[in-house]
Amino acid sequence: EEEEERNSEAKSESSTTSSSSDEEEGPPDRVDTDQERCDKPPLQSERAPPEKKAAPIPDRTAASLPAEKIPSEPAVFIPVDRTAEIQEARLKLPILAEEQVIMEAIRENMFVILCGETGSGKTTQLPQFLYEAGYASGDSIIGITEPRRVAAVTMSQRVCKEMNLSDRIVSYQIRYEGNVTKDTKIKFMTDGVLLKEIQKDFLLMKYKVIIIDEAHERSVYTDILIGLLSRIVPLRNKKGLPMKLIVMSATLRIEDFTQNTRLFPITPPDIKVDSRQFPVTVHFNKRTPLDDYTGEAYRKISKIHRMLPAGGILVFLTGQAEVNSLCRRLRKAFPFRPHCKAPAEGEEDTVGDVKKFKKAKQKKTLTMPRIDLDNYSTLPVDEGDEDREAGIDDEEEQLGSDLDLDLGEEEEGAGEGDKSDPSLPLYVLPLYSLLAPEKQAKVFRPPPPGTRLCVVATNVAETSLTIPGIKYVVDSGRVKRRFYDRVTGVSSFRVTWTSQASADQRAGRAGRTEPGHCYRLYSSAVFGDFEKFSPAEITRRPVDDLVLQMKDLNIDKVINFPFPTPPSSEALMAAEELLLSLGALEEPPKHGRLKELERAKLSCPITPLGRAMAAFPVAPRYAKMLALGKQQACLPYVITLVSAMTVREIFQELDRPAVSDEEKDKLTGKRARVVQMKRIWAGQGGALGLGDLMVMLGAVGACEYAGCTPKFCEDNGLRYKAMVEIRRLRGQLTTAVNAVCSEAGLFVDPKMKPPMDSQVTFLRQIALAGLGDHLARRVQPEEVLDPKWRNAYKTPLLDDPVFIHPSSVLFKKLPDFVVYQEVVETTKMYMKGVSAVEPEWVPVLLPQYCHFGKPLETPGPRYCSETGRVRCHRESTFYRVGWQLPAVELD
Ligand code: CDP
Ligand code: MG
Repeated sequence: EEEEERNSEAKSESSTTSSSSDEEEGPPDRVDTDQERCDKPPLQSERAPPEKKAAPIPDRTAASLPAEKIPSEPAVFIPVDRTAEIQEARLKLPILAEEQVIMEAIRENMFVILCGETGSGKTTQLPQFLYEAGYASGDSIIGITEPRRVAAVTMSQRVCKEMNLSDRIVSYQIRYEGNVTKDTKIKFMTDGVLLKEIQKDFLLMKYKVIIIDEAHERSVYTDILIGLLSRIVPLRNKKGLPMKLIVMSATLRIEDFTQNTRLFPITPPDIKVDSRQFPVTVHFNKRTPLDDYTGEAYRKISKIHRMLPAGGILVFLTGQAEVNSLCRRLRKAFPFRPHCKAPAEGEEDTVGDVKKFKKAKQKKTLTMPRIDLDNYSTLPVDEGDEDREAGIDDEEEQLGSDLDLDLGEEEEGAGEGDKSDPSLPLYVLPLYSLLAPEKQAKVFRPPPPGTRLCVVATNVAETSLTIPGIKYVVDSGRVKRRFYDRVTGVSSFRVTWTSQASADQRAGRAGRTEPGHCYRLYSSAVFGDFEKFSPAEITRRPVDDLVLQMKDLNIDKVINFPFPTPPSSEALMAAEELLLSLGALEEPPKHGRLKELERAKLSCPITPLGRAMAAFPVAPRYAKMLALGKQQACLPYVITLVSAMTVREIFQELDRPAVSDEEKDKLTGKRARVVQMKRIWAGQGGALGLGDLMVMLGAVGACEYAGCTPKFCEDNGLRYKAMVEIRRLRGQLTTAVNAVCSEAGLFVDPKMKPPMDSQVTFLRQIALAGLGDHLARRVQPEEVLDPKWRNAYKTPLLDDPVFIHPSSVLFKKLPDFVVYQEVVETTKMYMKGVSAVEPEWVPVLLPQYCHFGKPLETPGPRYCSETGRVRCHRESTFYRVGWQLPAVELD
C-alpha cells in the first residue's frame, strides 16, 4: 500500500515539474547497515593500469554538485570468481583501464554518460564493475536496457559466463521470453520491457542502477526512457533511495544528451573510453549501385573467400529473409558438411491457418444493427502482456517478414560459387534479432578448424554485437527503416541508404583484432550523398501516434516530457486534440476554472479503446477502424480499406492534358473505361452508400483476382505500384491484427468476396467512427443563399464550401452526411474517398463531438432492469457547427 502511495505521488510530482532544481535533488546520506562497510572499495590489483588512473572527472560537475548533495554509495566489494582465461581477455579491453574513473564518476553523480568505440567493453564490463562495487547488494538489482532483443540475450549470456555465475543471477527479459528469477542481480532487457515496468512501478524500486545501452541508436523507446529516468532518478535520491542512471553510447553524436539542460539540469560527466582500432582499408565499388545488392554481396564474398588470406567475413544486409537467402546460397556454393544442411531459420508460414479462418468466418452471425464502440480488439492478456515491448527488432521482423522477397533463390547454381574449390569450406552463420539464442551464440565461438567464418547479419552487428575474428566487412550500404507518411500517418518499412556514421561503424568492425578491409557495394559518390547521421527516430514520427503510445505508458502530460529531441509543442497539442476526438483519451472536465481546464486538456489519460488502438502500427484514425473491425467479420475489409487509403491514389492520373491526338483518344477511352469499372466495382455496396470506399475494395479484389498484373492495372486505369503496395500493406496489417487479436485467425485472402449488405452498413459505421473529424453535411437547397454553396457541403473544420470530387461514385448522389478521406484543393475544395453515413449514427458513434440536450418528454424515460439505469431520448447537436442530429437514447 505504502508503495502504491509513493508511486502515485511520484507520478504526479514528475508530471507537474518540468525540471528539477537543485533543492529537490539533495538526497540524505544513507548507510547500508545490512552490508559490510569499508571506507574505500578495494580495487583488484590487476586492473587499472597506472598511467590511466589519474584522468580527472570534469571540473564543472564537481563544482555544480556540492559534496553533501552527492548520493551515497554502497561501499562494498563483492568478489567475482572468474576463470584465468576470461580474466586475461578482459584485461585487453580498453574499458578496464578506466574502471576507477568511471566508478568514481558514478559514485559522485546521479547521471553519467559513457561513450566508447564498439567493442571497448562497455556492455559486458560495466555491469560487472557495478556488481563488484555492491550496486546489486541486498534486494537491489542492476538493470541494463538494449534496443535490440538479440543484444539483451547474448550480452546476458556473455556476462553470465564471464562472471562464472548462474543465469539465475545474470538474466535477461525480452518480450515473450526470459530467465529472470528472484535471485537475479544483473538483468538485461529490451527498452520496451523497462518501460512496461515503469508503468507498474514508477520509482523502479528494484533497481539501484539503470544502464541505458546503445543510446546513440535513438530508438523512440530509449529516448522516452532517458526522459523518464531523468526525473525518476532525482526523485529516488530525494527519497533517500539512491539510484544511478548511466547512458552508454558508441562514439557518435552525444550532444543531444550532454548539452541538454531540460534533460539534465546539471551537465553529467561524459567519460570516453579510448580503444585500439586497427586501420581498415575501405574499398568502394566503381559501378553504379545495383538494386541486387544481395547478389553483389554474394559475388564479393566468393571473391574474398577464394582470393584473400584467412580472416572472418561480416556482411551487412537489411532483413531476416535476405540474410537467410544469402546464407543458403553461400552454403550451397561452399559446402561445409556439418552445417550445410542447417534449415533456414525463421521461415514460418506467415499466411496463417486457412481452416481456422474459414471457421471463424462461418461462426459470425449478423444480427447486430450497429457496430459497438466498446467492442474492440484487445491484446491477449494471458501471453506476455507483462513484457509487451515494441523494440525495433520486433517490428522489423514481424511486419517485414512477408515483404522480403527471396532474391537469391532462383539464381541458385548460376553464381561463381559453383566453380569454387570445395576444399575451402565457408562456415556460414546468419545473425538477426529474432534468431534463436543458441544460434546467435554460435557467432561468438571460433569457427571449426580449416574453415572461414562468414556472418551474414542485419545491422544488429553494427554496434550492438562485436564478433571476434572479423577481417573483412562487406557493406550493402542499405538499412531497413521505418517510414511514416506525414499525411496518412501510416508506417511501413523500407530499405534505404544508411548514414555515413553508420557506414563508418560498419567498416570499423573489420579492425577489431588486426588491420582489415571493408568492401562497400556502392560508389564513393553515393557515400558522399548519404546523410551524416541517421536522424533520431522521434523527429521522423507523426506525433499523434507517438502521443498515443506514451499515453499507453501512462505518460499523460506529454507536453512537459523531457525528450532528448522534442517534437514541436504545436504538433503535440494537435495530436492530443485528435486523440480526444477519436475517443482514445478521456474527456477533460467541461466545467471549472479556465486555467485548470486548459491544464486538464493537455494531460488526458488514455481510454481502453485508446489502448486497443495503440497496438496497431498505423495512424490513430485507421487504428480505430482496425480496432473496431473485428465485429461482423469486417476485418479483412477494414484491413484492405486502411491499406488502400494509406496508398492514397489508386487510380492513374487521366485528367492530364494530352500531348498528341493519339494520346487524347487513349486518355478519353481510358477515362470512359475507368468510369465504367468504378460503377462495376462500387456495385451493390456502393449503391448502399459505401461509395468510394467500396470502389477501393472492389478494385483491390478485382486486381488480385487477375493476379495483380501490370497489364490488368494498365487496362483499368489503376496504378500498378499502388496495387503492389496495397498487397504488401495488407500482409503487414494482417500480421499485426493477428498478433493483437488472437481470435482473429486471419490470413491474407487476396481475392475477397464483396461484403454482404449488412457488412456494408457496418463498414460505413466503422468509417464514420475512424474518420469522425472528417464529417461533412450537405447544405440543403433551401439553405443556399449564396450560389457558391449550391451542391456544397459544410465541414466543422473549413469555412469554405467543399464538394464531392467529380471522380467519386457519390458525385451525383449528394447524400446528406458523408465522411471523406481527404480534401484536395484544385479549382474548388474537393472531398475524395467519400462514403455516405446516417445522421442517427453520429451521436452514438461520435458522442465526443456532440452536445446533448435535456431528456425529451416522449417516448419517455426507460428503466433497464439489466443495468439498473434509466435511459431516455435526448436531442443532440454536432459541436461547433450546431447541426441538429436525431434524438438518441442515452443514460
Ligand atoms: O559494448 P561494447 O561495444 O563497448 O563492447 P562489448 O560488447 O562489451 O564487447 C567487449 C568484447 O567482448 C568484444 O571484444 C567482444 O568480442 C567480446 N565478446 C565476446 O567475445 N563474446 C560475446 N558473447 C560478447 C562479447
Ligand atoms: Mg555494447
